[in-house]
Amino acid sequence: MTTWITICETCKREGWDPESAGQTDGAALADMIEPIAASAGIQTRRVSCTMGCERACNVIVQAKEKIGYSLGRFEPSAEDAAAIVDYAKMHSTSATGQVPFREWPVGVKGHFVSRHVPLPE
Ligand code: FES
Repeated sequence: MTTWITICETCKREGWDPESAGQTDGAALADMIEPIAASAGIQTRRVSCTMGCERACNVIVQAKEKIGYSLGRFEPSAEDAAAIVDYAKMHSTSATGQVPFREWPVGVKGHFVSRHVPLPE
């Protein structure tokens, strides 16, 4: 099953300034995630708010019939975007969606918010 990264494009981190920022932090992060995810075979989509606003920036990594995960507190940086995609690639190759902690990219450690178990058949 294809792994998707759902990116909240309306996230704004503390200190975000509408006067100086050209876009939201979430949109900036999405701009960085999308090209590297596409080249890795990971699907992406943007949504407006995942109700984790106080933990901006937020993403969800999920696939049908697998455990999905909400992650937050990312910065709109190339390093965080790469870590999210690296983790999504591991999620994609996992039969259940679970990835052993020792294999997690350093950049996602400390960013997990919640786990979503798949619905039963
Ligand atoms: S604006 Fe991103 S979670 Fe609410």
